[in-house]
Amino acid sequence: SMLVRHADGLADALAAKAPDAPLAEGAFPAGFLWGAATAAYQVEGAWNIDGRGESIWDRFAHTPGKIKRDANGDVACDSYHRYREDIALLKRLGVKSYRYSIAWPRVQPGGKGAANAKGLDYYKRLTDATLEAGIRPFPTLYHWDLPQPLEDAGGWPNRDTAQRFADYVRLVADALGDRIGQCAIFNEPKTFTHVGYWQGTHAPGRKDPLAMLRATHTVNLAQGLAYRALKASKASLKVGGVIDVAPMNPATDSAADRAAAERWYRFLNLWFLYPALRGAYPDGVLPSAQQASLLGWRDGDADIVRADLDFVGLNYYSPWIVRHAPEGNGVPGLDTQADWAAGGGAKADNGWAIDAQGFYAILKDMAAHTGGRPLEIAENGAAYNEGPDAQGRVRDARRIDWLRQHLNALSRAIRDGVPVRAYHCWSLLDNFEWAEGYTQRFGLVYVDFDRGDKRIVKDSGEWYAKVVAANRVV
Ligand code: NOJ
Repeated sequence: SMLVRHADGLADALAAKAPDAPLAEGAFPAGFLWGAATAAYQVEGAWNIDGRGESIWDRFAHTPGKIKRDANGDVACDSYHRYREDIALLKRLGVKSYRYSIAWPRVQPGGKGAANAKGLDYYKRLTDATLEAGIRPFPTLYHWDLPQPLEDAGGWPNRDTAQRFADYVRLVADALGDRIGQCAIFNEPKTFTHVGYWQGTHAPGRKDPLAMLRATHTVNLAQGLAYRALKASKASLKVGGVIDVAPMNPATDSAADRAAAERWYRFLNLWFLYPALRGAYPDGVLPSAQQASLLGWRDGDADIVRADLDFVGLNYYSPWIVRHAPEGNGVPGLDTQADWAAGGGAKADNGWAIDAQGFYAILKDMAAHTGGRPLEIAENGAAYNEGPDAQGRVRDARRIDWLRQHLNALSRAIRDGVPVRAYHCWSLLDNFEWAEGYTQRFGLVYVDFDRGDKRIVKDSGEWYAKVVAANRVV
């Protein structure tokens, strides 16, 4: 169909290409792809509609005391019913790529077995509407909503979950492959394994460092299996991953802190990349004699974890400050304490440090680790909580300033050879910000959560539309 050709043609046109002439400050190469991002549990609502099963986030958010103000994603932005409004907003911003995610428990309510046709139908409608708007659909296959029955069977620390995941993505690719040109496998595997199984402040809320290590390995196995399942469904599908990356700044200049920052760097930035691209974990994080048993690594896993990713998606928010922690942190040998966004500088409303130079620095670094693959910024944005004034206008000048700094840094990185072809602002909409509930607003569009029908393009959204139209920072 026309729609299919549109998607595939766009993918070809996106092949990474170094700009011919040096880019001016704040400028972007011709054909640069501007976008916005959301994720299923954060925006869809309709948590028990059309056969959707329970996910670990439903269970977690329905447990009192886990989420600020005991909020949950039962309704969220109601995008399950209002996706056409979302797409109209994307059109109004002028963006050409929409990154959304597919909820596993809509597709397989119990985490295995036959597909729930009504769940897949929703993603067909959403994808078709995106294409009809002339926007590239860019689905992510896992944005943290594991079917609860699979958690009951051990969750990500259970190696079997990898095969369950590969079966699920095959169902998605068989159903949507005619409509999509590319997809991402996991969103931020570091976050959902660390925060879900170690820190315990995200679903499923476990505080077990050894379970977390097992989870990281299952996810790497799943990435390799899923990559091959997707290619088996559609050989021309471009398959990548989305990882969150950040500079790791030592707390002091001491040799111990610098070594700790280096360990943390490898554990966060490279842990889900090296297995895919090299068939091995980065050295110097876990004690080598214990690594295999800590991860549950088996003979043959080097082949399973490999995935020759077609592109790499990067999320950037803030740098970390890392110090050596001789008291340990529960992970053998890691011996670090790290703070997301510590230090005295400027902060967004959720306390995260503002550091656009850190964006530039980590992009330069990641270009060296990704072997020339095209890169996409899959998320970048900030929490600023301004609401509408008496005239109903949302004057979020602070977000404009934040985005301007980060887009200037991105433009410099591209000028200096980093092959970034797309940028997705997090987020299109204010939405359910995980453990923060609805208290932190990342949207270019304001959402009134008491009245789901009220969405207001913020000043930052109007500004972003100008950037998109000009293909440069304004
Ligand atoms: C990254 C996650 O992918 C997204 O779900 C989250 O809302 C943003 N960071 C902001 O915390």
